[in-house]
Amino acid sequence: MKRCFGLGLASVAAFACLGCRQEPVVTFEPNWVYSKSVEIDTGYPMQRALEQTEVALTRFFGTPDHPLLPEVVTSDEEYSGLVSMENLQKAAGAPDDSGRGLYRQHCSTCHGVVGNGRGSTAALLAVYPRDFRMGKFKFKSTTRSAKPTREDLTYVIKHGVVGTAMVPADQLVPKVTDEDIQALVDYVIYLSWRGEFERAMLTEGGEVEFEEGESLFDPTSSTFEEQLAFANDTILEIGDSWLEAEDRVKDVPDPGDIPVPATIDELRAALAADGDSPVKQSVARGKEVFESEIAACAKCHGKEGHGDGPQQDYDDWTKDWTVRIGIDPVDEAAQVPLVARGALPARKIDPRDFRLGLFRGGSEPEHLYRRIAAGIDGTPMPAATLPEEDIWNLVNFVRSLAEPPKEEGVEAEAAQDASLQASR
Ligand code: HEC
Ligand code: HEC
Repeated sequence: MKRCFGLGLASVAAFACLGCRQEPVVTFEPNWVYSKSVEIDTGYPMQRALEQTEVALTRFFGTPDHPLLPEVVTSDEEYSGLVSMENLQKAAGAPDDSGRGLYRQHCSTCHGVVGNGRGSTAALLAVYPRDFRMGKFKFKSTTRSAKPTREDLTYVIKHGVVGTAMVPADQLVPKVTDEDIQALVDYVIYLSWRGEFERAMLTEGGEVEFEEGESLFDPTSSTFEEQLAFANDTILEIGDSWLEAEDRVKDVPDPGDIPVPATIDELRAALAADGDSPVKQSVARGKEVFESEIAACAKCHGKEGHGDGPQQDYDDWTKDWTVRIGIDPVDEAAQVPLVARGALPARKIDPRDFRLGLFRGGSEPEHLYRRIAAGIDGTPMPAATLPEEDIWNLVNFVRSLAEPPKEEGVEAEAAQDASLQASR
């Protein structure tokens, strides 16, 4: 099939070609942005690397309608347990009466068919949908750089991402079952695995001397054995990072003497009560820690926790095609070649304004404990190196800032995304 290059959004690449069915053939869009960034970085044209990466991707991971898993994965008991082929089949494909097509039905308008975070609504949203291909996730029970567990992905899909356009699963139409959610978890892992593999191949492709007759992944090449071994090793390395997740879960210690109210309402009630109390002391101590030099929370979140610290920084998904290759995220002219290939305009990070009381990764005390203790991967928020009791004090302090819900104003942005989602 001939590629139509430059159409950033074209995941439907070929329409009703001769001899095939009338329906459009849905394809996985190559990672044009990453490929271009490697090209800018190395100065090598990436055309051949892109073509050969496509060959490898199709061989190992199939297509949006017919997903596959690499043989090194399916032939190994451990790795094959990561993603169920049956679940992939169910999540993949076009939505139909048999219950297939869950991902395209419920997720791809935002996350894109290939999981590039560039579905048709993406650019309009205040919070961009996640690009799964970098293999980074924010809201999880594991350490900062680790992959999420299946339970973490299940939580995100089930509860949505509060304060963004991603709604909880029980608001999806048609309804999804718990089994459907599990199929979607498998599909997210699959897209992420595929996407990380693609990036690794393109990175390698930036070093291959195609002019000298070398190749990256070419079954007719005399060195194909080595190329295949490299590809398989890369696939298993990414698989390892998923396998390790369970071992990297961060325990949440008991708060001990520190009272941690179960809900924000209970905390509010305790703070409104007369006189001093252990809860009030904990919030006061949390405030001190928050403003302190070591915790440095105020640096990003502002002294009052309004999300207005004086920093100018970007998340890793933006840095990937800017800072990493020496492009300043405010230099719009330098970004043109990347934006033309589908990069969404750079936006500064948005440290949470705690008055909103909206916590994307869950608002239970243990969610917030983990968020603070592990930091937020893919964003500049570091893991806090503080005594356990101070992290609990911070949890109380941060929650104490939540203002009772208002009709408009501070929640406008979230409401705007939510209504955009509803009117889809
Ligand atoms: C209306 C847009 C929208 C739809 C539809 C949507 N999402 Fe999301 N999703 C988002 C946004 C926005 C984020 C990014 C939140 C952030 O970065 O804080 C996100 C993030 C995620 C994450 C990453 C969470 C993390 O911990 O980093 C996963 C996984 C995910 N979505 C899966 C899905 C699945 C599966 C579906 C389909 C059932 C889906 N999403 C449907 C908008 C959407
Ligand atoms: C370098 C900047 C930076 C520092 C330092 C920082 N944060 Fe954050 N924080 C962020 C950003 C950015 C976000 C939003 C991340 C996102 O969801 O995209 C955030 C989000 C949060 C959230 C919301 C989590 C959720 O689930 O929505 C909490 C809670 C939080 N920070 C607490 C803290 C505390 C407590 C400290 C100090 C120990 C701290 N942060 C230090 C940048 C920072």
